[in-house]
Amino acid sequence: MKKRVFLTRTLQDFALKILKEKYQVEIHSGKIPIPVTKLRSKIKEIEGLICFPYDIINKETIECAKNLKVISTYSVGFDHIDTKYAKKKKIRVGYTPEVLTDATADLAFSLLLDISRRISEGDRIIREGKWKEIFGASDYVGIDLQGKTIGILGLGRIGGTLAKRAKAFDMKILYHNRKHVSKSKENALNAKYVSFEKLVSQSDFISIHVPHTKETNHLFNMEIFKKMKKSAFLINTSRGKVVNEKDLTIALRKKIISGAGLDVFESEPIKKNHPLTKLQNIVLAPHIGSSTKETRIKMAEITVKNLILGMNQKKPTYSVGY
Ligand code: DGY
Repeated sequence: MKKRVFLTRTLQDFALKILKEKYQVEIHSGKIPIPVTKLRSKIKEIEGLICFPYDIINKETIECAKNLKVISTYSVGFDHIDTKYAKKKKIRVGYTPEVLTDATADLAFSLLLDISRRISEGDRIIREGKWKEIFGASDYVGIDLQGKTIGILGLGRIGGTLAKRAKAFDMKILYHNRKHVSKSKENALNAKYVSFEKLVSQSDFISIHVPHTKETNHLFNMEIFKKMKKSAFLINTSRGKVVNEKDLTIALRKKIISGAGLDVFESEPIKKNHPLTKLQNIVLAPHIGSSTKETRIKMAEITVKNLILGMNQKKPTYSVGY
């Protein structure tokens, strides 16, 4: 009898083919994310689970598992999984870092370019028939990037790759981490370590690259927005809950900061009438940091590989903890 694997959403055909050759595969169809009751009843019966960043795999859900060997998430983020409890239950957890580093850094830089040059805003102006005269001296002016300071919160894989993009645009680079990165990495990226307070007050752009944890929950709130430059922009491609959206909406509306580019939100998908959608000084993307053809293929390959290793009682190639 083939072992049972459950996917909370489908993957590319090539990935399903590999899985179906080895396992009895079931894929959730219908409402996304999968309702928690269905997930909990499925998890009782399976040995392998493939999930996505919006599936909440908390202690109560893991508790339902009887034979589960591995949880393989199709994402670099794993804040949706209680990894500590999984480890306690000897369930392996695989994730997909590295392969999505470039794509996510590119998206962060795209948001930065878009908001600073008002590209999406211009697109809206044209589509709404509001572009009346050409080339006015102060029409739709943005700002130069050259010489501006980007503050990168979290100079890890994605933050470091974003720094390379920023360096190529002649930006000054500040960063804040729990720990300094190596001198050679600092030199290669031309990045200077500063305190969180300095990063906040000295940056023209702040890009967030930290996971969502108890410590980073609503790290960016009104108190912080008031310490940022009035001319500054906030970019977030990590997790929505690192930013207090209510405060951000007020900060953008009252021009306490200049603008923002977000790929992630406190609750996704955000609705058409979400207060942030009413503002012009923000660019919104539907959580597409890793969404390129090439990257999504590599993510599927790793997700499947991690799952197979875990099913065979081996540590996934990219594993959290155990
Ligand atoms: C992930 O994989 O966790 C990212 O949010 C993708 O953009």
